[in-house]
Amino acid sequence: MASGEGSNFEALILACRADQPPADVVLLVVNNPGCRAQERAGRLAVPCRLIDHRRHPSREALDDALIEAFTAAAVDLVVMAGWMRIVSPRLVAAFPGRLVNIHPSLLPSFRGLDAVGQALAAGVTLAGCTAHLVNEEVDAGEILVQAAVPVHAHDDHASLATRIQRQEHRILPLAVALAAQRLRDRTAAGAGRGTAAVQPSG
Ligand code: GAR
Repeated sequence: MASGEGSNFEALILACRADQPPADVVLLVVNNPGCRAQERAGRLAVPCRLIDHRRHPSREALDDALIEAFTAAAVDLVVMAGWMRIVSPRLVAAFPGRLVNIHPSLLPSFRGLDAVGQALAAGVTLAGCTAHLVNEEVDAGEILVQAAVPVHAHDDHASLATRIQRQEHRILPLAVALAAQRLRDRTAAGAGRGTAAVQPSG
């Protein structure tokens, strides 16, 4: 899922194509027609669907359309790679433990909009990014991977955002690998239970 530039989406594609993690990106969903992420999907030959939030009357209706698209594509994991809309509990419930977000701050600091601006305004000397599982609260789910970067005295918004993004491109594939491994473990544990249930009893 991407809303704008799509640099995290491209970083994830390149990582997956290098088998780190060994995953297939089967679908990109964008909510803004003509965004750079959509162009990148074209160049990288990844199927892309536009699900425009302006055409849906509520967050829930938008999320229903997303769930339908992801279900049709039979995805295991969903990654919010620069998705600039708040998702409803409906999407979280449809993909429990399977919805990953990237946020440009060291959570739990600076949740919400313009995390880079918030960090600069607060005068922190260390900033960074967080890849985390999504829960019903904004930017608050379980942390999977974080990376820290220094804030220099001469930094402006653009220079700090660029430094943070370089790390996002590194940690998002790591977080996807971790979430995928957990999913495999969960599936294996479930399969194990199923096998035990059909063991002969005597
Ligand atoms: C990224 O920095 C991501 O962390 C941020 O939007 C940017 C998207 O860049 N996401 C959020 O702020 C979500 N709360 P990209 O489109 O180049 O990947």
